[in-house]
Amino acid sequence: MIQNLLQDERDPSILILDFGSQYSELIARRIREINVFSLVVSNLISIDEIKNINPDGIILSGGPNSVYEENSPKCHKEIFQLGIPILGICYGMQLMVKELGGFVSEAKNKSEYGRAPISLDKISTLLTGVENNSIMWMSHGDSIDRLPENFVKIAHTQNTPHAAISNDENKLYGVQFHPEVVHSQFGINVIRNFVYEISKCKGDWTTDTFLEESIPKIKNQVGNKKVLLALSGGVDSSTLAFLMHKAIGDQLTCMFIDQGFMRKGEPEFLMNFFDEKFHIKVEYINSRERFINKLDGIVDPEEKRKIIGTEFIRVFEEESRRLGPFDYLAQGTLYPDVIESAGTNIDPKTGERIAVKIKSHHNVGGLPKDLQFKLVEPLRRLFKDEVRKVGKALGLPDEIVRRHPFPGPGLAIRILGEVSNEKLNCLRDADWIVRDEIKKAGLYNDIWQAFAVLLSVKTVGVMGDKRTYAWPIVLRCVSSEDGMTADWSKIPFEILEKISNRIVNEVSEVNRVVFDITSKPPGTIEWE
Ligand code: XMP
Repeated sequence: MIQNLLQDERDPSILILDFGSQYSELIARRIREINVFSLVVSNLISIDEIKNINPDGIILSGGPNSVYEENSPKCHKEIFQLGIPILGICYGMQLMVKELGGFVSEAKNKSEYGRAPISLDKISTLLTGVENNSIMWMSHGDSIDRLPENFVKIAHTQNTPHAAISNDENKLYGVQFHPEVVHSQFGINVIRNFVYEISKCKGDWTTDTFLEESIPKIKNQVGNKKVLLALSGGVDSSTLAFLMHKAIGDQLTCMFIDQGFMRKGEPEFLMNFFDEKFHIKVEYINSRERFINKLDGIVDPEEKRKIIGTEFIRVFEEESRRLGPFDYLAQGTLYPDVIESAGTNIDPKTGERIAVKIKSHHNVGGLPKDLQFKLVEPLRRLFKDEVRKVGKALGLPDEIVRRHPFPGPGLAIRILGEVSNEKLNCLRDADWIVRDEIKKAGLYNDIWQAFAVLLSVKTVGVMGDKRTYAWPIVLRCVSSEDGMTADWSKIPFEILEKISNRIVNEVSEVNRVVFDITSKPPGTIEWE
């Protein structure tokens, strides 16, 4: 599995062995942010694979287990003898200590969660630039009682005698806190010190090097064959289209299926931008009627999703036959999908894979796995923020690069209950106003998603001495890191007022605007 993951690709400079921490992916992101390529792999990676990759440094992640539990996850012990610098974080540090002859036990009444000021005990390379008494983020129940030979303590906190340890001679280091989370004030210094000063990484992971490496790789893979790409207008498929076009020019055909549930002006913008401005071949497939007819009488959200998803695949198959044949399908798979499907977390008790994140839904608008194409997935090593940078470097405008996530089934799941053309038009106008005002207020880039939802009930209002009976619009604005949890955005009242006024004045079928003040959980971001 890991071989497959690493096959034929750039080797990571920093290898992260995952012991089940919710932060493993974040460690990789932080390291990439400082221009060093890193990958998360299973803790069960073999010593030969590690030697083969020959990373500059290794990080052992945190994890939910205790090292003294019988079947707690381990890594190959020989890893500590390779001469490769190692940084253990939380569980990773405790494992290193135990494996090298130290002693770890349950911190009696002294577990530490959340922010803790750190006291420096010794000058060290690892903690250079970390201020004494600065805050680090702790999350642990165990602690070190006795260090292995040749290790010294370099920092402590009130409840943790060994908050950071080092063995300079063998380049082995450990921290009990989480330097990767933003709450750790000088956490990035710790990561930078380990990566650059201790592991001597070069810092050659940039958008430019990604482009330099991936374009010939795509050319090599595809040869003179024809490639199809399903363009949605989101940042992933748009960046992919630009990248593929740069690599193989007119061997690429993009297919844009307009199911009729996009936002105001989006299909026109997309066609204008890709086809006319950049001369990237885009086949526009107008399937609006087909989709809305299929939704006739359907009110259940999951049924809507299923119908739209199935219809999308049908249209895609029909149209690819009509336009083809194609040898390859270009897909915008990203690194988090690869990590999740590779499953880097192993339950120590059962030996089975544990899903760290439970996806609430499949990406409707996605394609089935058994299509008769070979796949080109040049973004499969990138995080979303890296895709944005690549997109930007390739010339994509902010409208696409910074676009808020938009669900595959589109506005069809933002109209509660039955979907109709009348409701779609109304929601499009309201949604346009929401985004327009949020952008004008300079809030767009700080918000994860801001949109309108139409409720299929009517409420009474009064306008110009006349009674109205019309639909209410819900305004939903959330901040989030990844869409898994979210907080409702505290939009200033004046902006809310403007949005509300404009919607009831400019959208004739609406007479009321309400603001959703529910976080996720318990709410979801979308209303359906
Ligand atoms: P929820 O509503 O589950 O949404 O809190 C989390 C994130 O996923 C998006 N979302 C979808 N994306 N197809 C998609 O491609 C869907 O069916 C779907 N449902 C929700 C949502 O917009 C948010 O970013």
